[in-house]
Amino acid sequence: MRRAVCPGSFDPIHNGHLEVIARAAGLFDEVIVAVSTNYTKKYRFTLEERMDMARETLASLRGIIVEPMGEGLLAEYCRQRGATAIVKGLRSSSDFDYELPMATMNRQLTGVETVFLPAEAHYIHLSSTLIKEVAQLGGDVSDFVPKSVLKRILAGESAPDQRRSG
Ligand code: PNS
Repeated sequence: MRRAVCPGSFDPIHNGHLEVIARAAGLFDEVIVAVSTNYTKKYRFTLEERMDMARETLASLRGIIVEPMGEGLLAEYCRQRGATAIVKGLRSSSDFDYELPMATMNRQLTGVETVFLPAEAHYIHLSSTLIKEVAQLGGDVSDFVPKSVLKRILAGESAPDQRRSG
């Protein structure tokens, strides 16, 4: 059983994420979409909302599990879950520069490998941050996110006591 982890904030999940996760599912027997929590980060959606959006949009794909990653080390999470690889999408050389030290560190920590998948050309401009900004300023983001995510973005849905902006 080859298991991989696709980690991220997914705040919210967008079409670029979905494309990379779908490709990861074609390479591994099981892919865990690990939704992170970092208390130094300000999220627009709560952890539950971020996981719900991921589950809703990935429901049709086989071999995918959506889980909270917790606040600990990604390498340790992978070790505990029996995952031999982390899968990340790369949009640009600056993504690579950012990811390379983490990939090397993660491999040194527990031996977990990182597999980089080049993003599809029509998704290289997508980030959750940019999508949220465009939506907040009234722009049309319907080409960039699945329908269920779009509904939540437009509804401004988030539990007030857990809402974090950003
Ligand atoms: O979608 P994001 O916010 O870019 O995802 C970042 C994530 C979750 C992949 C990254 O923050 C991470 O790896 N967090 C776990 C903490 C950790 O292991 N830090 C050491 C990295 S070598």
